Amino acid sequence: MPILAPSVLAADFANLQRDIELINDSDADWFHIDIMDGVFVPNISFGVPVTEAIAKHARKPLDVHLMIVQPEKYVETFARAGAETISVHWEACPHIHRTIYQIREAGCRAGVVLNPGTPVSVLEDVIQDAGLVLLMSVNPGFGGQKFIENAVEKTARLKELILRKNASALIEIDGGVNLETGARLVSAGADVLVAGSFVFSAADPRKIISELKAL
Ligand code: DX5
Ligand code: ZN
Repeated sequence: MPILAPSVLAADFANLQRDIELINDSDADWFHIDIMDGVFVPNISFGVPVTEAIAKHARKPLDVHLMIVQPEKYVETFARAGAETISVHWEACPHIHRTIYQIREAGCRAGVVLNPGTPVSVLEDVIQDAGLVLLMSVNPGFGGQKFIENAVEKTARLKELILRKNASALIEIDGGVNLETGARLVSAGADVLVAGSFVFSAADPRKIISELKAL
């Protein structure tokens, strides 16, 4: 049974409280919060005030995915805003080891994110320090994109690395997750599934959340 993290990016921003309550009342485990700066990724989502507003109503942990340049500048801010997990892109961090420890010292689970084109092998020397690894199964920036098939095999390779290094990082997958791709990802070793459009475009999002949880 995976940890399920619906992505608030796909919620109705004009009815955010309603959609937060929907996640509160569902079988979902975490709120996935996508922060985009229009520089690291070609889209702007929302920032700190909206995250604080979500934290005020959310009764489940916030899983913050920073798609921004120089994420180390905002670690403490998002920790104060209520993040339980903070994930930073490996591609945005020249000093990833330092940033992982900065996140841990801020009291959060430290996640490292890999873009589809970045191999798992870059984690060889930091996997024991990370609390989570987030594999992107789409290029970051937008919800509703097509799942990149290579992510399944990549999940299995990450699982191997974690076992080989005796590490405890959770494996999270983000992008194009539905019941079909989700099932294959869980078999390959995924611990956490993010799902945005598949949940929020459904007629009954709560039912879809329960079905994803049952994978
Ligand atoms: C993409 C974001 C994802 C996105 C997933 O850059 O990181 O979290 O919300 O959306 P779906 O599930 O629609 O692919
Ligand atoms: Zn995300």
